Amino acid sequence: MEIAPETSEDWWEVEALLDLCFGPGRTALSSYRLRDGVDPVPALCLVARDGGAIAGAIRTWPCAVGTRPALLLGPVAVHPTRQGEGLGAQLIGAVLSIAPTRVILVGDEPYYRRFGFRRLHGVEMPPPTNPGRVLGVGDWTGVTGPVTRATTD
Ligand SMILES: CC(C)(COP(=O)(O)OP(=O)(O)OC[C@H]1O[C@@H](n2cnc3c(N)ncnc32)[C@H](O)[C@@H]1OP(=O)(O)O)[C@@H](O)C(=O)NCCC(=O)NCCS
Repeated sequence: MEIAPETSEDWWEVEALLDLCFGPGRTALSSYRLRDGVDPVPALCLVARDGGAIAGAIRTWPCAVGTRPALLLGPVAVHPTRQGEGLGAQLIGAVLSIAPTRVILVGDEPYYRRFGFRRLHGVEMPPPTNPGRVLGVGDWTGVTGPVTRATTD
């Protein structure tokens, strides 16, 4: 398994994997509104390949929470034929090992708590988002407010 930063040639293959794992309606999710018109963080977007075939991918975007910067982790997806082999953990671990502090995501706490993610209180994702799925890891002391798109220069 080779894990490497995503390149522009990988883009559509990763999109196809995300459609497969989440369904093509995934871009209607409110978390996608935080990504519209914002470039992802290249060093924190990774693709895993096994003999050339894509096995998993993770992307990360900048965002803001209140007035403070944060990273929005995800989407993360592992091909259905490769799930349960630890690849998701490898991809998430790789990003967290180089991400600056304060990472947020929308996801299942029973999965993400093994990486240190806990429910965030006082942090509001764009509606409609189940508050119980708004999770964070890192230094969230005193950081509250709406999650908004990172401003671009
Ligand atoms: C979620 C996902 C990224 C995990 O990747 P993976 O490579 O299959 O996961 P790992 O091999 O690292 O971990 C497997 C473990 O996570 C558990 N797990 C997987 N998804 C879970 C979930 N949604 N909730 C709770 N536990 C989950 C498995 O039961 C397994 O548990 P075990 O270690 O006790 O056997 C992958 O299953 C996937 O792409 N799913 C479809 C898309 C998706 O739902 N993405 C993110 C959800 S917010």
